[in-house]
Amino acid sequence: MFKKLTLAALVAFGLAGGAHAAGGEAHVEDFKFSFEGPFGTWDQNQLQRGLKVYTEICSACHGLQYVPLRDLEKLGYSEEQVIAYAANFEVFDPELDDFRTAKPTDHFPANTAAGAPDLSLMAKARAGFHGPYGLGINQMFKGMGGAEYIASLLTGYTGEEKTEAGATLYENHAFPGGWISMAPPLYGEDTEFDDGHSNSLHHISADVAAFLMWTAEPKMMQRQQAGFVGVFFLVVLSVLLYLVNKRLWAPIKRKPTA
Ligand code: HEC
Repeated sequence: MFKKLTLAALVAFGLAGGAHAAGGEAHVEDFKFSFEGPFGTWDQNQLQRGLKVYTEICSACHGLQYVPLRDLEKLGYSEEQVIAYAANFEVFDPELDDFRTAKPTDHFPANTAAGAPDLSLMAKARAGFHGPYGLGINQMFKGMGGAEYIASLLTGYTGEEKTEAGATLYENHAFPGGWISMAPPLYGEDTEFDDGHSNSLHHISADVAAFLMWTAEPKMMQRQQAGFVGVFFLVVLSVLLYLVNKRLWAPIKRKPTA
């Protein structure tokens, strides 16, 4: 039995290593995010900055079709602000059989024009298997997940380009395989923030990555809190059970000395 298990583990390691080698040396950096760790919370200002970066730059190619526009109220915007923001987009209305201005009850539009993937769930889709041999070790010990991957991707361009079968590819050391067809979307100072917050490449990449983590998992904090309440009740229950157990056995345990 033990032999079989060891063999299975070795095979699994071997496969993971092989897959990793085939994918090239992807390097994901450890960014510090406010939502990491058991007591993490969203940094609302950062999410607002990330929305700005998405709107001004990424939305040209990427959609966010699973995210309802009205959810932006949870980032601290008023109803009027969300109505005004929604009015920037056109959505297809099957009832009218035509395009119309988006309302807060609509989702962000999809965008397939540039052949770019939808970003709504990207931070979760790319969450795992960072670190040595694609085993997710960095994720487990350093909390590195999808947001780190996206931020590393945006800051990971080396400046090298090549043309392959008529398509331009850009070297990027966070992208598995090392060459991505997305031209570097950010260079730093691509946008200005009203509060004068830093708009360096590192900062805006982290901001938009945090925003995309929120779009992928808007209920992360509620989930953590529910977990804490659960653990708290289990601890209380364990203490009670221990005391009950002591009580029940007390008369029997006392006998020999009596
Ligand atoms: C000019 C169009 C364009 C813009 C602007 C753009 N992207 Fe992309 N993006 C693409 C394309 C095309 C791909 C697919 C690349 C590939 O698979 O080789 C892509 C892929 C991605 C991926 C997926 C990488 C993966 O692991 O598969 C992420 C994440 C991403 N973009 C994030 C962003 C962010 C964030 C922004 C804004 C800062 C942005 N993109 C702006 C065109 C764009």
